[in-house]
Amino acid sequence: MRTILILAALALAAPVAAVVGGGDVTFEVKGADKATFSHDAHVVKAKLGCRDCHPKLFLDTTRSKRVTMAQMKKGQSCGACHDGKRAAGLDDCSTCHR
Ligand code: HEC
Ligand code: HEC
Ligand code: HEC
Repeated sequence: MRTILILAALALAAPVAAVVGGGDVTFEVKGADKATFSHDAHVVKAKLGCRDCHPKLFLDTTRSKRVTMAQMKKGQSCGACHDGKRAAGLDDCSTCHR
């Protein structure tokens, strides 16, 4: 069901809406403050398209494949872009964990 919702959202791909894409997503993690992902920051501010992330990197919050920071450093999940080149690197934890 969630996948169908995402596909519908992708098909419509309305760039400007009250809530952009999946809105703000919070990742509760063990051993660090929660990490926050903002669709607004990525889609509106950084001008990325839905397909830069969906469905290859991310599905939705109920089907997310949890990754560790070690996997992220190898390019998975947020690490696909947050490598210090394409986007801010992973060394400054407070970029995401607050
Ligand atoms: C920079 C990457 C990125 C971009 C670009 C992006 N998303 Fe997402 N999206 C995510 C992440 C990360 C999640 C959370 C996935 C998880 O929990 O594993 C998510 C989740 C979602 C969800 C599910 C929210 C929920 O509560 O389960 C929807 C719907 C969604 N995105 C739609 C969109 C649409 C539509 C666009 C384009 C307008 C878009 N996304 C662009 C990264 C992105
Ligand atoms: C497809 C590439 C891509 C992916 C995947 C991605 N980001 Fe980003 N992110 C960017 C770009 C580009 C920027 C803007 C440049 C910058 O601030 O480094 C950005 C900016 C940010 C910012 C600063 C936002 C602001 O307020 O300006 C945060 C926080 C962030 N990303 C968190 C995340 C998290 C958490 C994930 C994984 C769930 C993620 N990003 C996945 C490309 C990506
Ligand atoms: C680009 C955003 C981003 C940055 C920067 C970042 N993290 Fe994370 N981190 C996340 C996200 C998102 C998750 C949750 C991933 C998931 O559940 O799939 C996570 C998960 C974690 C976890 C739980 C998984 C694990 O590896 O044990 C820890 C601990 C953690 N981060 C610590 C850190 C520390 C320490 C730093 C700084 C050295 C850092 N993170 C920098 C986004 C980030």
